[in-house]
Amino acid sequence: MPTLLHLDSSADLRASRSRAVTAAFADAWRALGDDHVVVRRDLHVDQLPHLSDASLHWPPRLRPEGASPDPAHEALQHELIAELVAADVLLVGAPLYNYTVPSTLKAWIDNVHLPAVTAPFDGDDQQPMLGRPAVVVTSRGGSYDAGSPTEGWDHAVPVLDQILGKTLGMAVEVIETNLTLSDLLPMPPEARERADRELAAALETAAESARRLG
Ligand SMILES: Cc1cc2nc3c(=O)[nH]c(=O)nc-3n(C[C@H](O)[C@H](O)[C@H](O)COP(=O)(O)O)c2cc1C
Repeated sequence: MPTLLHLDSSADLRASRSRAVTAAFADAWRALGDDHVVVRRDLHVDQLPHLSDASLHWPPRLRPEGASPDPAHEALQHELIAELVAADVLLVGAPLYNYTVPSTLKAWIDNVHLPAVTAPFDGDDQQPMLGRPAVVVTSRGGSYDAGSPTEGWDHAVPVLDQILGKTLGMAVEVIETNLTLSDLLPMPPEARERADRELAAALETAAESARRLG
């Protein structure tokens, strides 16, 4: 059964753009047939614990001598990794918070990125997600265009590209919507128009991507 793991991390349960775009993807995925499963994890509503012990970054055989991480946390980590490994496609709603990913999403990353388990370290077959698609939906209050004074200030997409793409080996695709704060803050009308245009395009791209990947 083609399985989508759908993560959201926006703290806005009222008007989130990233939630709207990931929902459009998940709806299009479900519409592909009854066999198309969506596993949903809302990282804001059901927040994961931060790593309770540094040794949880490693599988037992690579942990420092004497390490004794909380077995309950270790069991949760197993569950999160199993959920990821069972997914054919990963969908991540990733709003830009303070120039990076929300801490709720970072907690998920810290729990699932383990050398020699989900990332290459010292042997073969250590990248179970190799080649599988990861669709990142980024929503940003501002804009970070090439050549603009804010170019390079977005540290969310690069870290997701590093972890999901380069480290876990997934095929990362990014759907973006910018200038979302034009709803709230005084910005020129062009900014509002661009924001609306990008949101409409992102919703369409999300549905198309689901149909292509499903
Ligand atoms: C805690 C917080 C921090 C934010 N930091 C940034 C930021 O660094 N840069 C930016 O462009 N927008 C920032 N914003 C605005 C959000 O990126 C914007 O509202 C975006 O649409 C949030 O995604 P959502 O619509 O899915 O909730 C921030 C918003 C919040 C709530």
